[in-house]
Order: sequence, then structure tokens, then C-alpha cells
Amino acid sequence: MIIAAGLLATPLAACGGDGDSGNDAGSGSDKIVLGFSQVGAESGWRTANTKSIQDSAKEAGIELKFSDAQQKQENQIKAIRSYIQQKVDIIAFSPVVESGWDTVLKEAKDADIPVILTDRAVDSTDTSLYKTFIGSDFVEEGKKAGDWLVKEYEGKTETVNIVELQGTTGSAPANDRKKGFGDVIAADPKFKVIASQTGDFTRAKGKEVMEAFLKANPDIDVLYAHNDDMGLGAIEAIEGAGKKPGVDIKIITVDAVKDGMQALADGKINYIVECSPLLGPQLMDLVEKVHAGETVPARVVTEETTFTQEQAKAVLPTRQY
Ligand code: AHR
Repeated sequence: MIIAAGLLATPLAACGGDGDSGNDAGSGSDKIVLGFSQVGAESGWRTANTKSIQDSAKEAGIELKFSDAQQKQENQIKAIRSYIQQKVDIIAFSPVVESGWDTVLKEAKDADIPVILTDRAVDSTDTSLYKTFIGSDFVEEGKKAGDWLVKEYEGKTETVNIVELQGTTGSAPANDRKKGFGDVIAADPKFKVIASQTGDFTRAKGKEVMEAFLKANPDIDVLYAHNDDMGLGAIEAIEGAGKKPGVDIKIITVDAVKDGMQALADGKINYIVECSPLLGPQLMDLVEKVHAGETVPARVVTEETTFTQEQAKAVLPTRQY
């Protein structure tokens, strides 16, 4: 592809280049150029996801232009506009929130640049604005968390006080994990969500919000955290309050990154629903197919499992991330 010289200096918002951020203007290269706008570096999951994308692009011989939006939608919109100006071949991004993408997606469509959604969905009703969406089924993840809880308290009648650490407000995983979990536990009135607040998917915020939960609610039975990092922050808060995580307060998280799995194996977390960050190889495959004009499925759902404490002990030695 050819890039107009005047556009080469276009700054990328919060650009966190991968060391391969040059373009192939004038180099005669016929590599596919992929512009990828990442959410940020908020969690262990995200770090593993970024590595997977960068490694797979390299392996597939795809030129990757990578930018880190630092969890801000405005940065992602700027990055996408910059990729449009640079006339990259394909744009892929993991939308920080679900709403507010139609205008910029329309700009990409008008410029004839196909878009692939990875990891998180958008709520645009016009699905012609993107070619495909690869990522987890977050509602299903929430349901799996709820199913475990229902089984754990089977046959018991006392009230179960639950606190919930939500992911980033307005993001698909926060919306869907809340919904999936809520739908399952709604079937039994003994389950009560007594507090639910965002921890923005970070360890620091998870700790801070859990400290507030503990101060306001002396009788917390269960913590449901929408990711491992918030759960790990909450564990620090629980220990700081003189309670035993995994025993005094049962903990369910989502992701299954190494630190989370270690806490599960150590008995501090009770159950983890896996969300795989290793989307890179499948994404590059889709990029190649879309670039070649092949038809791709509208939705590619990632395969995932769940882990008990015993299962975590067994898989930890070979866990990749
Ligand atoms: O979108 C995936 C979610 O984003 C992961 O579960 C969380 O850890 C990350 O920040």
C-alpha cells in the first residue's frame, strides 16, 4: 500500500508503538498494514492480549501499527481517524465502551477500509460498519459465575450477601458479565447483591472499592469481580480488614491470568471463569481473509473454560499468561 507523505507525521493519540510502527510507504513492501487500537494496559489480561496481537502480527508478516488508548474512547477515535488518514489496509480495535462508534466507523467504511472488532462489541445497529467480531461471550461468562454460586449454596436457605466489582462502566464485558450473573442468581431470592460498583478493571480500583464495601457492609459473603485484577486488589482489602479471602468471603473472578490462577490455587479465590486473551492468531487469520476479499463469519466466539482451585493447581505450571 502507498501512504501520502504529508500524512506520515499524523500523530497518534497516546501512541504506544511496538517498535514496528513505521509504514511501508515507498518501501515497495506488499505487506498487509493493520492499524490496531488497543483499550489500554489496565489488566494482566490486556497485557497478554497485546503481546498475542503483536507476536501474531510479526509471525504472519503483517505490519502492525499499534496504539494504546489508555482506556479513553476519544483516544481510540483519534487513533482510528489517523489510521484512516494513513490509508492502512485494515483497522482492528477493541472498543473501550459499547456506544458512540457509528460516526468513526462510517468514516472508515466511506474510506473503504474494513474494520474488525476484537474482544469487545459495539452497540451499532448497522452491522455493515464492521466485517466481523472476534471475542468471548461475556454474558455466558457471567452465567458461568452465577452457576457456580448457585451450586455452592445449594440446599442452603440463609441470605447470601454479594458484592460486585464491575468492569469499566459502559464496556461490553461489564454490561454482559453483570447481566449473565444477575440472570442466573435472580432465580433464587436468597442471593442479594448488596453493593455493585465499578473498579475499572484495575487492581488499584478493585482494592479501593472493596475497602469501601467492607466499611459499609459488615456481612459480605461473596465477592463477584468482573476480572482477576480487581479481585486481586480486593483480596488485599479483605486481608487488610482482618478477614480471610476465599474463606470468610468467597470470591469469583473472570479471566484466569497467572496471578489470578495462583490466588485460586492458594485458596484465596474460589472459582475463575476463563476469558482468553490469546486472540492474536485468529485475528491475523481474519485480517488475511478480509484483505483477500474472502467471506468471514460475522461472529467468532473464543473457546473458554472454568477453573476450580484443584484445576488451577494442575494447570498453573504450564499456564502461558
Ligand atoms: O475485555 C476483556 C476484559 O478487559 C478483561 O476481562 C479484563 O481483564 C480486561 O481489562
